[in-house]
Amino acid sequence: MARPQSRYVCQACGAEHLRWEGQCRTCGEWNSLVETIVSTERERRPASSSRTGAAPVALGAVPDGDSPRLPMGIGELDRVLGGGLVAGSLVLVGGEPGIGKSTLLLQAAAAVVARGGTVLYASGEESAAQVRLRAERLGLLSGPAATAIHVLAERDVGRIVEAARGASPTVLVVDSIQTATVDDLEGPAGSVGQVRESADRLKELAKGEGIAVVLVGHVTKEGSLAGPKTLEHLVDAVLTLEGERYAALRLLRSTKNRFGSTDEVGVFEMGEHGLAEVADPARAFLAEHEEPAPGSVVAPTLEGTRPLLVEVQALVAPGGYGTQRRTASGIDPNRLALLVAVLGRRAGVGLGTHDVYVSLAGGLRVEEPAIDLAIAAALASSLRDRPVAQGTVAIGEVGLLGELRPVAGLERRLREAARLGYSRAVVPRGGGRGSVPDVPGIDVVPAGGLREALERLLGTDLPGSGAPGQGARRSVAEGAGGHGGGR
Ligand code: TYD
Ligand code: MG
Repeated sequence: MARPQSRYVCQACGAEHLRWEGQCRTCGEWNSLVETIVSTERERRPASSSRTGAAPVALGAVPDGDSPRLPMGIGELDRVLGGGLVAGSLVLVGGEPGIGKSTLLLQAAAAVVARGGTVLYASGEESAAQVRLRAERLGLLSGPAATAIHVLAERDVGRIVEAARGASPTVLVVDSIQTATVDDLEGPAGSVGQVRESADRLKELAKGEGIAVVLVGHVTKEGSLAGPKTLEHLVDAVLTLEGERYAALRLLRSTKNRFGSTDEVGVFEMGEHGLAEVADPARAFLAEHEEPAPGSVVAPTLEGTRPLLVEVQALVAPGGYGTQRRTASGIDPNRLALLVAVLGRRAGVGLGTHDVYVSLAGGLRVEEPAIDLAIAAALASSLRDRPVAQGTVAIGEVGLLGELRPVAGLERRLREAARLGYSRAVVPRGGGRGSVPDVPGIDVVPAGGLREALERLLGTDLPGSGAPGQGARRSVAEGAGGHGGGR
């Protein structure tokens, strides 16, 4: 068979070019040419449609798609997958370099073999010896992993597929899709064309042989799966491992899952011997202090269906000459800028001449706007140098007019806060959308707007710095009844 030809196809208009160019000559779009195999594409089509037997079937007669699941035995991972890996599925695990993807997958591989499965671990990033070294560190060499996990240091997808067809493992891991290459394409490993074609072939393997295939994909700084962005459509599930590289906690989320919900998160802690499941994740993201500290506010956030209490920390300091710093870690910087503006205009908390730093404890990222009130309160608390009473949580979205908007799942959040020993919660009054829930053990304080909420939290009238200490002492006394808050 002749070597298949590759063309550079414009992703915007479909025009084919013989070589790569920065701009498509047909439609003028920049950076839209992707190397694509043309001849095999045509040859493959009829074969694949005859295999899947695409005859129409009455909806009721379609066999139910309950594919067998392979629980991994790692609770937090199974949870995110929706019960386990599905045979014949293609899963992409993304994350920044060094976050722990290879570690997680090697541990998952060991869990699969502990239940009688076999795993082929194709590594294009590391040599077989390096994979062995990691297995040793994870304490896997004495168990069944030593014989039932096979390592293949290979980048060529053709050879990986061949090895997988020969061995028919339960699970094939390809670490990473950016190092995988198809030799019919000339583009370098990691280019969109290579990544897409490699994944396409691995998908064919997965469906054809009923092997669960897990691809590792590196995420670029901008947070997109580099190249593999185009893979998100192709794969059945996308999991991302997040966290701060120098902090121990890792969050596993699913952003797409054809076989389960995308609402679940898994929480792990990176330790000396790999990733360990966190027993009580709800409190994992709280920093530990003995005393209430100015600038610290706890918010009961919801990650999918799972409540997590997270500590927002803010530091406000007089700025130098020129532009003030606005540094956000774990929250959207635009959201921070907006809250700073609303605080100044609607709540009398002027931060215009101050440098502002906000971060979430434990390296968590929170996207839901329900955390707004906690951020605003942490800023005000730091500016006034006045702590929020211990045992208090704050939740609510802040609107541009300084109003507090209701949040979803309020009762679930409050129950979790009460379980962890918090005794007081400042929450949005609720507007027309139902009343504030009554949760045993927690004193729920509704507030209509940001200004009122800050008064409830900081125990003092805003604006004006007031008599320092006075308000703080009062609020500490108020909150002293119920303990908890931190550990
Ligand atoms: P790794 O799984 O190689 O990350 P990725 O595949 O996402 O690039 O893990 C990288 C980091 O994890 C590395 O800096 C060392 C650390 N680590 C531990 O702290 N404990 C361990 O047991 C292992 C295996 C790694
Ligand atoms: Mg790796």
